[in-house]
Amino acid sequence: MLRAVDATSATVWVETDTPCEVAVGDHRARTVTLFGHHYAFVAVSDFTPGAPYTVTLDGQRAWPADDRFPPSRLRAPPAERATVLFGSCRSILSDELGDPDRVDALRECAWRAASDPGQALPDLIVLLGDQVYADRTPPATRRFIRCRRSVKGPVGTHAHDFTEFAALYREAWSEPAVRWLLSTVPTVMIFDDHEVIDNWNTSARWLAAHEAQPWWPQRLRNALAAYWMYQHLGNLTADERAADPGFAALRRGDPSVALATFERLASRGGEGTPGVRWSYARTVGPARLVMIDSRGGRVLQGGKRHLLDEDEWAWLEDERAHPAPYLLLGTSLPLLLPHGLHELERITTAACAGRWGRVGARIGERVRQAAQFTTGRWRCCAAPPGRHAEA
Ligand SMILES: [Fe+2]
Repeated sequence: MLRAVDATSATVWVETDTPCEVAVGDHRARTVTLFGHHYAFVAVSDFTPGAPYTVTLDGQRAWPADDRFPPSRLRAPPAERATVLFGSCRSILSDELGDPDRVDALRECAWRAASDPGQALPDLIVLLGDQVYADRTPPATRRFIRCRRSVKGPVGTHAHDFTEFAALYREAWSEPAVRWLLSTVPTVMIFDDHEVIDNWNTSARWLAAHEAQPWWPQRLRNALAAYWMYQHLGNLTADERAADPGFAALRRGDPSVALATFERLASRGGEGTPGVRWSYARTVGPARLVMIDSRGGRVLQGGKRHLLDEDEWAWLEDERAHPAPYLLLGTSLPLLLPHGLHELERITTAACAGRWGRVGARIGERVRQAAQFTTGRWRCCAAPPGRHAEA
């Protein structure tokens, strides 16, 4: 997969079945190992924009693997005008499901571009949450889970340990057309609830109910580890990745630093993500794209309902100073709701806070979880004069 790209460097991410040296042209990286799975991030500096690339594993060519598609290319970020393909809540359309009315937009985009040389690819793919559904696994992952453990009990066929998450991501991104598209168009991503479980962090009450379950801390730790490896680290430039203490230790063969962070986050829910920032920003043509984690870092303790903790909010405020003339906010939640929904969300927030007594709070919580209402509080962040804010 072609991941973070800036003017000087492009990151190619690969998963391999064994430790090895991965080369993209003359640029090389050793794989790192997490829970017995192997990955490499190859940073290609000073590349020629549009140049085709190949990937070798210990000198053996591994990519391109499918000659039905054009060569995969390293693409530089556009200077003036950018085309962005964005979406969320991706269903993995398995041919086994046999539903001819449903279309995978990524597959469609790939085949159009592959079969019509005049059809331009987007400059960037922005995936805005629920890239995978850990709580609704697709057929191959479900079969894999059934082969390795009992599916009786509350975990059922959900992805639960890291190996099951790895199978889930592999199924999501290995369909040949999708795989080619992701190899030749840079992607940025941010998670939502289903990367962990439906309704993750919806409310303090939801969190308390899940923290009382013995399987929950392990589930959250593994989901975060998988998100970090499959989504987050590739969002970062090579310099940002090198500054991640967990990744630096992993390159030395030590996964404990990263795992201790995820254990901490999994055992202290609802307090934001102190010391960890999943949000990030990129420049895309004339726009500053600010990708906001509005799911994992919520502050729900002490009656608060903040989407971002103080550190992350301060970072977001700093982004306002960026001089790009356009601002794109990428988040897995709707920032602007239709009036009716907005009012219903406000009423629910008041009900949950006890405005209409205990019965009202119970009903409010039910509505909140069913409708996935988030918070009464997105603090207002006006764009500086002369700058356009687009959601
Ligand atoms: Fe979601």
